[in-house]
Amino acid sequence: MSQPHPSAGTTVVTADRVSLGYHKEKEPLPVLVDVSLSAKKDELVAVTGPSGCGKSTLLRIIAGLVRPSSGKVMILDTEVTGPRADVSMVFQNFVLLPWRTALENVLFGLSSRSEFTEEQKMEKAKGALDVAGLSGFEDVYPGELSGGMKQRVGVARALATEPRVMLLDEPFSSLDDLTAERLRKETYTLLINPQSPVQSVILVSHNVEEIIELADRVVVLSGRPAHVVGEVDVTMPRPRNKKSEEFFHWVDKVYTLLS
Ligand SMILES: Nc1ncnc2c1ncn2[C@@H]1O[C@H](COP(=O)(O)OP(=O)(O)OP(=O)(O)O)[C@@H](O)[C@H]1O
Ligand SMILES: [Mg+2]
Repeated sequence: MSQPHPSAGTTVVTADRVSLGYHKEKEPLPVLVDVSLSAKKDELVAVTGPSGCGKSTLLRIIAGLVRPSSGKVMILDTEVTGPRADVSMVFQNFVLLPWRTALENVLFGLSSRSEFTEEQKMEKAKGALDVAGLSGFEDVYPGELSGGMKQRVGVARALATEPRVMLLDEPFSSLDDLTAERLRKETYTLLINPQSPVQSVILVSHNVEEIIELADRVVVLSGRPAHVVGEVDVTMPRPRNKKSEEFFHWVDKVYTLLS
């Protein structure tokens, strides 16, 4: 393990009144206004809201890829001012480098990490492909992988960096049900497994059932510009039976906030 684990209950990610406007012609177009959320150690926080409301933008701000116009993001007790080695993101519409094999695509995510030897990078990349269920596909080129397998290479690339925080933007949306379900379980296992470096996950999703299956808390964004219209603490015990009445009660709660 590359980093010390904070104790239970520690807040790992905080977005504090984050606002952002994209510049459109002369006027800034406000996208997010005063959005706050937090994820504690071992928590999976889901962010949902209508298409185009600013969910991917919020993840990019948390990842340090975009600076907010006001407000701030903290990882443990340091402010995010740019991309960090301990935060990794799986992008919506993830694109692999077609001329590199699955293994080389995962290694690419480690290329700037001079603290690791080439041997260590190789070990981490192979380990991450294994976790993503892609052992045996190391030398295959993206053109020969299915859509779901490509997406799993994207997850492996994020995992190989052994992040403290994983930011997932609709990572399961283009997968078949069985593969999606497996990756959801694997993702949650990574979060709660004390051997894994992952301490918090922020998941952007449109799929309310997926959210209730996984999340400890749901943050619902809506409006133009988007703001937090509601937050639900999903206190349903795990494992969560997706066919139970209780499950549908929680799904309903989130739908009510969305509509
Ligand atoms: N780089 C950019 N420059 C200007 N405007 C942008 C940029 N990226 C996104 N936007 C605008 O910001 C708004 C929010 O976009 P964003 O991609 O964050 O939404 P989203 O909630 O992730 O949508 P979806 O659910 O469809 O993925 C949209 O109106 C979009 O057109
Ligand atoms: Mg998006």
